[in-house]
Amino acid sequence: MFSDKDIAHFSKLETPFYYYDLNLLQSTLNACNKAASAYKFHVHYAMKANFNPIVLKKIEKVGFGADCVSGNEVKKALELGFAKEKVVFAGVGKSDKEINDALDNDIFCFNVESVQELSVINELAEKKGKIAKIAIRINPNVDAHTHANITTGLDENKFGVNSWDMPACADVLNISPNLQFIGIHFHIGSQITNLDVYKNLCVRVNEFATWFEDHGFKVTVLNVGGGLGIDYHNPNQQIPDFESYFKIFADFLDVKSYQEVHFELGRALVGQSASLISRVLYVKNGKKKNFIILDAGMTELMRPALYQAYHQIENISKSKIVNQKSEITKYDVVGPICESTDCFGKEVPLAETFRNDLIAIRSAGAYGEVMASHYNLRENVQTVSSEDVG
Ligand code: LLP
Repeated sequence: MFSDKDIAHFSKLETPFYYYDLNLLQSTLNACNKAASAYKFHVHYAMKANFNPIVLKKIEKVGFGADCVSGNEVKKALELGFAKEKVVFAGVGKSDKEINDALDNDIFCFNVESVQELSVINELAEKKGKIAKIAIRINPNVDAHTHANITTGLDENKFGVNSWDMPACADVLNISPNLQFIGIHFHIGSQITNLDVYKNLCVRVNEFATWFEDHGFKVTVLNVGGGLGIDYHNPNQQIPDFESYFKIFADFLDVKSYQEVHFELGRALVGQSASLISRVLYVKNGKKKNFIILDAGMTELMRPALYQAYHQIENISKSKIVNQKSEITKYDVVGPICESTDCFGKEVPLAETFRNDLIAIRSAGAYGEVMASHYNLRENVQTVSSEDVG
């Protein structure tokens, strides 16, 4: 929801830009923190969802750690003040340089995704005389019931170590003095809205934890990843139900007194806090279709083009009349990029729209700005926050 003041401010600015509602971000972080703390659960924010410094600083202040998937994410997390004891490094293809830098920075843990990676980290740690803490990312073959492109925990996915490779992991761990096994890690996919999926995950986590303990490895960290979805159809129903989410893990995980439970939430923390604000360049009324052509495109928000993702589209210049059914026209809302997939929504019902109207594409805080590209030699997308509006 935008106030008249927000809209008056936006109308003076160049578009497109991402608008961050920092009050909503703070309330979301507080709600998550409260719900997690009730069970003494630890949250590492999945930085890949959004690494804008204004977002990261707020997250660091709440006390969450950082879940990083590249050497540059590790570097940025440390630069912005995340304590090294709260930085984890995951990723299926960590380079030697990235591993070496993370070792130099004494991060909390590597989430290791293959048997070979275990040997490589051991070798590199040995050269530095360091002990690397590691958690094994296990592919639990649990279906997340989400879009195929953002499913990660099935046997056919590239992520993690499969169950049949556990004995090989144990063998390497037993001959690797520079590795300290601390636990197991899972992440089955993103934008998960059916919470029952997590019950299935808990069953698998319990099985694997038992397997490692039975084979002589003390499991002190159970990292269950992230994936909690947001309601893209209701951007104003803004804070995800963190309480129900954490309760599932409290109810279904077997947690021993010496074990910590870690989460890596991304989208749920930042998704609803931003909108992409754009201006209408042209309106084309055709016989079969009406088109709104925006000054933002898939280069600024790639999700609709990449995953056919739904984002609510609102004409905020016309917010006062948008509910009058008689005024509604259906438009295909597209961007200026030379690709047919550069489309934010088809047959979108909107108030009659004109050149220079402001359009908000909602729920764009996660995997929006960070996935922007320079295709067609587009400019960097700008950022505006609620603090700028005052
Ligand atoms: N942990 C790991 C190991 C991950 O791979 C991911 C996301 C997360 C945590 C955080 O997941 P979240 O809580 O945000 O669902 N670009 C796609 C989403 C890709 C997710 C990649 N991994 C999208 O726009 O929907």
